[in-house]
Amino acid sequence: MYNLVDLSNKHILITGASSGIGKEIAILTSKLGARVSLIGRKKEKLEIVLNELVGNGHFYYEFDITNFNELDQLVSSVVEKSGLIDGFVHSAGIEMTRPLKMLKVNHYNDVFDINIIAALELTRIITKNNNISKEASIIFISSIVGLLGQAGKTAYSASKGALISASKCLSLELAAKGIRVNTILPALVETDMSLKILESISEESKNNILKMHPLGFGKAIDIANSAAFLLSPASRWITGVEFIIDGGYSAS
Ligand SMILES: NC(=O)c1ccc[n+]([C@@H]2O[C@H](COP(=O)([O-])OP(=O)(O)OC[C@H]3O[C@@H](n4cnc5c(N)ncnc54)[C@H](OP(=O)(O)O)[C@@H]3O)[C@@H](O)[C@H]2O)c1
Repeated sequence: MYNLVDLSNKHILITGASSGIGKEIAILTSKLGARVSLIGRKKEKLEIVLNELVGNGHFYYEFDITNFNELDQLVSSVVEKSGLIDGFVHSAGIEMTRPLKMLKVNHYNDVFDINIIAALELTRIITKNNNISKEASIIFISSIVGLLGQAGKTAYSASKGALISASKCLSLELAAKGIRVNTILPALVETDMSLKILESISEESKNNILKMHPLGFGKAIDIANSAAFLLSPASRWITGVEFIIDGGYSAS
């Protein structure tokens, strides 16, 4: 039988792998044959994910990736243990809903450090020749609000938009090495992050948000399926694009 998405013998490094979308990408890519390196801050959650992975050769790293000075050492340990990196997914991120009048410089710093700077610093280190294999694939989990506006999301949206524009530059810069860089832009996906938002608003507001998603809210597996495709050789001619996976949110 022909498998369109085959990740056998690939080593995939995933940030935000302890929860939600990153966790689902880790589980799916292991099912498709990959060895997976998981990064997150919470050991207990990482251990749970590790136990759900299929196959052998998976490791987790309990690490705050906004400790920028230690990222070189982190990537060296990952490569030493599991070999050259064939795929990198930056799913780690934080959400922030705050109107402009309540935004202070430290809020921008918090959101940008994890959502964009950690992504770019890790990409810089990973794409050194001795860390990455030929024809590797890099994916940044952005957001539909990186493209479309939403009141109260200025800091978050700006950080996610930055991932989209940076990925286009990187796709050009890294094409000579055969490395592809793409972004995935989800609308609302049911994870810890979105449940926190939904729990903090009225039933009426929740229904209004639901109505903006013609196919309903997404599941983490909807994003993982696209990520697995973008990590696989089946997408070898796709780079510098944003994959909108939003249940129809942006169609209207
Ligand atoms: N869910 C949605 O509706 C939605 C929509 C659009 C885009 N996104 C984006 O999708 C990505 C994943 O979101 P999610 O819904 O899966 O969220 P989530 O369940 O809250 O997971 C976030 C992940 O990021 C990790 N993380 C946060 N700060 C970190 C740090 N400083 N160092 C290392 N890891 C850190 C967390 O690790 P620990 O828990 O171990 O601390 C966790 O694994 C995010 O970038 C988010 O912006 C989500």
